[in-house]
Amino acid sequence: MAIKLSLFFVFLIFFTYYFTEVYSLVEFTNVQCESLDKDFALFEYCFLKSVNRSYKYVSVKVKLLKLPITKIKVQFALYKRANGYLPFLYNMTVDACRFLKTPNPNPIALYFYNFFKDYSNINHTCPYNHDVVLDKMPYHSINTKVTKILPFPEGKYMLEGHWIAYDINRAITKFYWSLT
Ligand SMILES: *[C@@H]1O[C@H](CO)[C@@H](O)[C@H](O)[C@H]1NC(C)=O
Ligand SMILES: *[C@@H]1O[C@H](CO)[C@@H](O)[C@H](O)[C@H]1NC(C)=O
Repeated sequence: MAIKLSLFFVFLIFFTYYFTEVYSLVEFTNVQCESLDKDFALFEYCFLKSVNRSYKYVSVKVKLLKLPITKIKVQFALYKRANGYLPFLYNMTVDACRFLKTPNPNPIALYFYNFFKDYSNINHTCPYNHDVVLDKMPYHSINTKVTKILPFPEGKYMLEGHWIAYDINRAITKFYWSLT
């Protein structure tokens, strides 16, 4: 009886998990970029575009004015909306120059990095000696990745990134999405 009951619960958990995954849908709702040091980094554009109901994308271009950059960290924090956006689960700082060289990079950082890497030219180690572009990152490509690797509860989220070069905070990016 005990075994049957626990099997039933395993089944129930699996079943719930499976259907939560299948029906999760990610939708970008906004993107914001801010330069804190306009002698160092300038955003040429930063927008979310809705082509039609099923195709939306995000594009960002930041001009870097002091090249090459040999030391950069990203402090990123996840927020979930309750009464306003509140910190949720993750807040970490990643050395971007070391990140891609590490054999076992931080799995959470890797998780977020994987969304962006195919659409961005920051997919290499330091130095960075060019502008940084995120080109037409579509939200539907993210659906499968989000739900498969690390399922989140439904809700509205924001990923805030602080771009810290030579230990000075130079820019902030915020990506907003909802999970339904
Ligand atoms: C949305 O736009 C994309 C790109 O132009 C196109 O390939 C796709 O067929 C469109 N989808 C609908 C439902 O109109
Ligand atoms: C994240 O951690 C940094 C450094 O510890 C801290 O300054 C910052 O306020 C934290 N952010 C959130 C949203 O908790």
